[in-house]
Amino acid sequence: MATEIKQSMYEGIEVQHFQFFLQNSDEHEGILQFLLKYLPEQFKRISADKSSLGVLGVGSGGGELDVKMLSLLQSTCSSLPITADIIEGSTELLANFKALVAMTDNLQKIPFTWHVMLSEDYRKQVKDLKKYDFIHMIQMIYYVDDVTETIKFYHNILKKNGRLMIIIEKASAAGDILWRTFSKELCNETIPVYYSSQDVVASLKTLGLKYEEHFIPNTYDITECFDHNSKTGQRLLAFMTASNDFSQSFTPQIRADILNLLRNKCSAEKEGRIYFNSGLSLICVHA
Ligand SMILES: C[S@@+](CC[C@H](N)C(=O)[O-])C[C@H]1O[C@@H](n2cnc3c(N)ncnc32)[C@H](O)[C@@H]1O
Repeated sequence: MATEIKQSMYEGIEVQHFQFFLQNSDEHEGILQFLLKYLPEQFKRISADKSSLGVLGVGSGGGELDVKMLSLLQSTCSSLPITADIIEGSTELLANFKALVAMTDNLQKIPFTWHVMLSEDYRKQVKDLKKYDFIHMIQMIYYVDDVTETIKFYHNILKKNGRLMIIIEKASAAGDILWRTFSKELCNETIPVYYSSQDVVASLKTLGLKYEEHFIPNTYDITECFDHNSKTGQRLLAFMTASNDFSQSFTPQIRADILNLLRNKCSAEKEGRIYFNSGLSLICVHA
């Protein structure tokens, strides 16, 4: 019997909300600016005494950050051949990623292997496991079934001097406050439990793994969320609460409570605009 391929929640309307969020926030730009400073030194360490480099992206989405990291790895370690494997649960986002690779000249020399599946299925089903020098999970660990088992699995498939890089909402940052306060209303089948950096750090301590943690500032304008006639505001709220439609998914009281929390506990005002204080944690786990 053929094995069923499960997809992530990122298809159709969720992809549209995610892309809308990316267009209306500087999240990718903020992460990229940090990585451009942080990764060259890591890549030099990872590549010492190696004759080739294997990269694994988990939950890479449309690959916007992957192509930048791979280009940076190419320029930092120009003499080494690179391979890239991608595990991604959304066929729609993976198609975008493939299109992006096709139009990026310098990536034509890198062979890509696409694993269209959830991380859990890769962990449980793939028997012939490859090892990697650099594995990254950017803004995706919220969706795995078991953080400790996931980290243990990916750490086990790191090569010597390899690094597992996780980027996730920082503990006590605005996203963490929102999701922990309204966990009963926001958590669902896809995100049954909300994780932030403190859960990843707790897992790393349980596993006794060596890691370092860095802060990536990430604020974005949510002023429109407070105008209930604003389509921009409604779409941002849908993404922030992982709901298909903010106004249909919650009672008027819950919507009012969420907006109140966003305004008073999760944001700051600057020049008449309201900015969500969503800081990120970059956690780099050593092999
Ligand atoms: C918030 S997006 C982040 C995408 C990309 N890393 C970025 O930062 O632009 C989360 C991604 O994780 C993928 N995803 C969600 N659950 C997954 C799972 N269990 N295994 C693999 N990918 C998953 C989604 O399809 C989506 O592409």
